[in-house]
Amino acid sequence: MKHRDTPYTCHVFVCVNDRKGERQSCADGVGTAIKDLLKQKVEERGWKPQVRVSQSGCLGVCSSGPNVMIYPQKIWFGAVTVDDAEAILARVGELIGRADQ
Ligand code: FES
Repeated sequence: MKHRDTPYTCHVFVCVNDRKGERQSCADGVGTAIKDLLKQKVEERGWKPQVRVSQSGCLGVCSSGPNVMIYPQKIWFGAVTVDDAEAILARVGELIGRADQ
């Protein structure tokens, strides 16, 4: 095993877990749409070298979903809607020193 530092300043995890209605899960909301939108915006803004948006499985806080978590800053956004994407991006912009975009 090789131990390395992550290449990203911010790694944005968007839960897209789908429990198919058996229990609340982030896919009941708009997890996939949020992930797609954040990925698109990060690419458009040229943040990809510093920021990675990844879909994730369950982040362990299903009843608060849809959930987005940012590491290593340990930031958690719950009850996210598509309308929250710009606010999340603004926070990411601050974290990477690109708050002007
Ligand atoms: S299903 Fe998204 S946090 Fe559990």
